[in-house]
Amino acid sequence: MCGIGACLSLLNDNVAPKIVKMLMNLEYRGYDSAGIAVIDSLGKIHVKKGVGRIHNLAETLRFNEMEGHIGIGHTRWATHGSVTDYNAHPHIDCGNNIAVVHNGIIENYTDIRERLISLGHEFKTQTDTEVIPHLVEEKYKEKKSILESLREALTELRGAYALVLITSHEPDKIFFARFFSPLVIGISNNDIYIASDIPAFLQWTRRVIILQDGDYGFVSADKIYIRNLYDPAVKGREIITVEWTKEMAAKGGYRHYMLKEIHEQPESVKRTVRMASKQIGDVINLIEKANYIYFVAAGTSYYASVHGQYAFAKYGIRSRAVIASEFLEEVGAFLDKDDLIIGVSQSGETADTLKAIRFAKKKGSKILAITNVVGSAITRLADRSIIMGAGPEIGVAATKTFTSQVATLDYIALNWARTHGFDVDLLISKLLNIDKDMEWVLEVNEEKAIKLSEVLKEKNNAYYLGRGLGLSIALEGALKMKEIAYIHAEAYPAGESKHGPIALVTEGFPIFSVVLRDETYHRMHIAIEEMSSRGGFIISVTEKNDSDTIKLSDFNFCAPDNYSNILAPLVYVIPLQLVAYYTAVKRGLNPDRPRNLAKSVTVE
Ligand code: F6R
Repeated sequence: MCGIGACLSLLNDNVAPKIVKMLMNLEYRGYDSAGIAVIDSLGKIHVKKGVGRIHNLAETLRFNEMEGHIGIGHTRWATHGSVTDYNAHPHIDCGNNIAVVHNGIIENYTDIRERLISLGHEFKTQTDTEVIPHLVEEKYKEKKSILESLREALTELRGAYALVLITSHEPDKIFFARFFSPLVIGISNNDIYIASDIPAFLQWTRRVIILQDGDYGFVSADKIYIRNLYDPAVKGREIITVEWTKEMAAKGGYRHYMLKEIHEQPESVKRTVRMASKQIGDVINLIEKANYIYFVAAGTSYYASVHGQYAFAKYGIRSRAVIASEFLEEVGAFLDKDDLIIGVSQSGETADTLKAIRFAKKKGSKILAITNVVGSAITRLADRSIIMGAGPEIGVAATKTFTSQVATLDYIALNWARTHGFDVDLLISKLLNIDKDMEWVLEVNEEKAIKLSEVLKEKNNAYYLGRGLGLSIALEGALKMKEIAYIHAEAYPAGESKHGPIALVTEGFPIFSVVLRDETYHRMHIAIEEMSSRGGFIISVTEKNDSDTIKLSDFNFCAPDNYSNILAPLVYVIPLQLVAYYTAVKRGLNPDRPRNLAKSVTVE
């Protein structure tokens, strides 16, 4: 979704260059247009905005020359209103006294807009956001206090918002509010920052306030004032120090964040397992008590949940992975207080996932959250949370958070299994020491991925087949290829491929085949032969000594031996991430900025 970056300098420096940097750090949230507003020393608001990427706009619009020690900025992922200079944020009121940037959707904006137009307000854009400065302007006529006007305006807005506002009426403050869309405050000795996400300001501070739904207020040089629309007891929020470092959020010599994040996986999975071991506490007990377990998630997190379902099934735990946006219709009628919902979301802010969880909560179900972001919305809804140690993921396509999700779910499954008499000591110790094997997979497969990308860059379609524990790997591999290389890639349970998909297979059609040496092995071979006899170009991912599968393949990626078990995705998915990455690069695309996608989808 959109990214918000605001800054108040405590040293009276011009803040525009810092806001530009924050917006660059947040581009993974949206990048179709961007803009900045600052207040100058006379209290006048200046706005510059336009269509394009922030680094281009910074040059053409000369953002860095804007003067003012208080400012707000925005990088947009359009929802309401097409991608135009006008519709870019910030938006201003009629009097040019109030500027606002916003992330989220104001559902009742047409009603508010019509009412304001009848009161004489003139609108310049088609966005939902523009109603906010006008509504505050209207309230201010009577209240003569921006805080009060904002508070009253907020009570009229329906939908989701994170917003920041500057005003020439009170030029020494940045006002803010959050409801459903994320917003955090960062505090350093030199500045105060407000942003959609912590990596925006991680290079300057790790001291953070995580705003909660209903919070609103302002920051000034001597005050951080926070109140809550629904809870009068709130008189401020705790400052926490996050463990993420600025190096974690930087590219570290890699050409793209995605490549860096693929390479970080040995370390991030290891950290995640260590963190899971400290947080597992009563989770096994929660599983034990649950009548039924539902995973709820979207996108990559859903595929990790599919893995969770299969991994749990290995040890006799009955569960079902459900796509968040289908959850209400698919299983809503069956939920009750004895069920456990495992919400899996790297950002912890995905609107579809949060909606499903809220629904289940109302039914009395218990909620366990697995997320990468401390203090995210999902953790506040959940009865129990496990925070992963993946570190900030900046590439829009999820990579290291997928493997961290799998590792967390495996850790839970294995601990449950151990307490129920399964002999899983070997698997647990393998999981605890998996970094070496993941490093090996990276080393052995990277050159191969580069080579294969030469072939794939010319293709328009691909199938990804897997069975059992191989299925989630195929699903995730296809999603990566689709979202960053724009190749139409479909994953199927291998056995299903003969019931229709095979009709498309002609000479040279790429068929990725994830082959595990378990009870699915021979049936995977049958599927491969069916595809190959129709001309399919077989790209297998196998254990390295699986010579029988290698013989059936035109191209092979390898995983270490003895990974045909619930740990499989942790090593098998890596070649599929690499090949998607290199194919995107060969096609001249930027894997960190896939078109039409945003990292955190905070609208339904
Ligand atoms: C895929 C991707 C998305 C997310 C999905 C859920 O690479 O990034 O499919 O997985 O939007 O996001 P979270 O995990 O934040 O709930």
